[in-house]
Amino acid sequence: MAEPSESTVAMVGAGQLARMAWQAAISLDLGLVCLGEPGDAAIRAGAQLLTGSAKDPAALGELAGRGDVLTFEHELVDLDTVRALEAAGVAVRPSAAVLELAADKLHQRRTLSERPGLSVPAFAPAPNPEAVVDFVDQFGAPVVLKAVRGGYDGRGVWMCPDPEAVAAAFADAAAGGLTLYVEEAVDLAGEAAIIVARSPSGQVAVFPLVDTRQVDGMCREVVLPSRVDPATAEQAHTLATRLAEAVGLEGLMAIELFLTADGGLLINELALRTHNTGHIHTEAAVTSQFEQHLRAVLDLPLGDPSPRAPAAAMVNIVGPPDGSDPADRRAHALAVPGAHVHLYGKTARPGRKLGHVTVCDDTPEDALARAREAAARLEGHA
Ligand SMILES: Nc1ncnc2c1ncn2[C@@H]1O[C@H](COP(=O)(O)OP(=O)(O)OP(=O)(O)O)[C@@H](O)[C@H]1O
Ligand SMILES: [Mg+2]
Repeated sequence: MAEPSESTVAMVGAGQLARMAWQAAISLDLGLVCLGEPGDAAIRAGAQLLTGSAKDPAALGELAGRGDVLTFEHELVDLDTVRALEAAGVAVRPSAAVLELAADKLHQRRTLSERPGLSVPAFAPAPNPEAVVDFVDQFGAPVVLKAVRGGYDGRGVWMCPDPEAVAAAFADAAAGGLTLYVEEAVDLAGEAAIIVARSPSGQVAVFPLVDTRQVDGMCREVVLPSRVDPATAEQAHTLATRLAEAVGLEGLMAIELFLTADGGLLINELALRTHNTGHIHTEAAVTSQFEQHLRAVLDLPLGDPSPRAPAAAMVNIVGPPDGSDPADRRAHALAVPGAHVHLYGKTARPGRKLGHVTVCDDTPEDALARAREAAARLEGHA
């Protein structure tokens, strides 16, 4: 019997993003081998496992040898090894140089601030509390301290209204061995995000701009279309295309944006992978971000990112405080008409992202109301 002629993507990470990439890989008959642990979300769903750590050079080397292209579901990877693999001829997408932008937030701020037309919040390195005092003298308080490397879901972000909070942030950072930088606390009118794909051949596709709402630094709700005016949405679209081209992106990039009170856009951060703010496109766009990621890194024609519903909303399912498992309430949530329930097969723990719900509708308000209803049922408070 002939072997299926499939291409295989090697992915660093095996969590829910890899799991949803696997879902897309099945449709295209692609292989997916993930670096992680047996209990990880993608592996529980049947993706191929290579057991190991993203910090282990040997494991990364072996992973690269198992696929036609090496890509990532997170940026907490040993970049020196990735650079060496790239130098040895492995197709690494996005490239190590581009990944470095996501891995090192200070490097990211510096790189973006050097490019005309891209605005970021005022920032400075913060090797010690004195540097923060100097920054406050120049830009005023409050400020935000952030870990240069290793933060996610608000871990590694300290909102600092006063010097006591600054001192506490430095104590936390010292305990965790983290280096900090400081930035202005932006007076937010809202937050938004946009995802762009670019293939090695240079094809670019931009998903619609979405509005996002974070709670305690973690993304909780996403809505589209964004409520910003069409000119601002167009500006975000252009920014995404320019940035993808400027950095030579190969793969997917999510751009988190701050909407300022005067109607401007500031770049909050970049992620060089599929992103929580893009889950909504699985039902709301012609092509999902997961399929688009696979297409981009394999240099296949990119899919159509345009919306296929007038409006949609996505609400994350987070582990409830009582430790109960939302999956036990699946049936209750599925009774909400039009609710697309995604559960990641992860062990329930309070505060842990365990799934999401997406609803498409005629208006953002109606979509959000139903997505919230289904999410509340899963979390056990409806
Ligand atoms: N300079 C700032 N001014 C105002 N709010 C901020 C600022 N920086 C961060 N925040 C708030 O904290 C949230 C988390 O910050 P950020 O995106 O930098 O952290 P993260 O932990 O890396 O998040 P992610 O999980 O998206 O990677 C932001 O979405 C925003 O709500
Ligand atoms: Mg963020």
